Amino acid sequence: MSFDYFLYKGVRFSPGSYSEDVLNFAENEFQVLDDDVYIVTYPKSGTNWMIEILSLLKQGGDPSWCRNVPIWLRSPWYETKEGQSQIKDVTSPRVLTSHLPFHIFAKSFFTSKAKIIYVMRNPKDILVSLYHFAKILCLYKDPRNFQEFVEDFLQGNVLYGSWFDHIKGWMQMKDNSNFFTITYEELQQDLRGSVEKICKFLGKEYDDALIDAVVKHSSFQVMKENKMSNYSIMPQNFMDHTKGTFMRKGVIGDWKNHFTVAQSEYFDSVYEKKMKDLNMIFF
Ligand code: A3P
Repeated sequence: MSFDYFLYKGVRFSPGSYSEDVLNFAENEFQVLDDDVYIVTYPKSGTNWMIEILSLLKQGGDPSWCRNVPIWLRSPWYETKEGQSQIKDVTSPRVLTSHLPFHIFAKSFFTSKAKIIYVMRNPKDILVSLYHFAKILCLYKDPRNFQEFVEDFLQGNVLYGSWFDHIKGWMQMKDNSNFFTITYEELQQDLRGSVEKICKFLGKEYDDALIDAVVKHSSFQVMKENKMSNYSIMPQNFMDHTKGTFMRKGVIGDWKNHFTVAQSEYFDSVYEKKMKDLNMIFF
């Protein structure tokens, strides 16, 4: 796409779905409710997988809602133009989504009892997923080639800015009881156990039947085949379906098929510098 990102509080956004006013509203005026749950992620960390899991939990394991309502209407992004008009139709307890970094997140959250589920993923896999996604979603500048995209990602020259800043910002919340972290890799390796942990965090009663249903209906294959979850019904001018699909591979470690040894070593050296104060290992 040919446009320029604009900066809001040091972070890049695209004019399509964001503006100074929309972001200012999200940050300073948006009213968080005490029973809200927010899925917060850096893009491509497993956001939509978590929306599907929470949609199923909200419906007691019944997949009808997921089969009939587009995923972005079930849990709108409250910082986008579209999301802000869609939120009025979300019933309480609301599950809302955000990619905002910590310093721009809704101020009213911090005096509320609302909860956040923060999903993280190996940043090399995020980079690869984003590289492909940026070619199809109109809100991203078209990546010219992988090498340049590695540079843009490491510099934070992409929509929603730097992955490093996102993680570092949100980790300030890690000891708060209304903040729960989980990784894409944990979801992959133990979806059952992960869903149980999510129920406990939400204070939601669960039994084997509920967990079985959530695990079954949130699998990669089921989501990929569900047009309400796989983004195939997004208008072509917003998502170019000729260039790829949202439900791409859904695996751990695809970065190994994309990075050269030199690119991986370069990434590691930047990672070490930027993350030295945080004891977090993703790969
Ligand atoms: P890949 O591009 O690596 O396949 P987000 O929802 O944050 O945009 O993340 C999208 C990534 O999550 C994509 O990764 C997508 O395939 C993957 N994904 C979505 N649903 C999934 C599921 N049920 N199981 C595993 N991966 C899933």
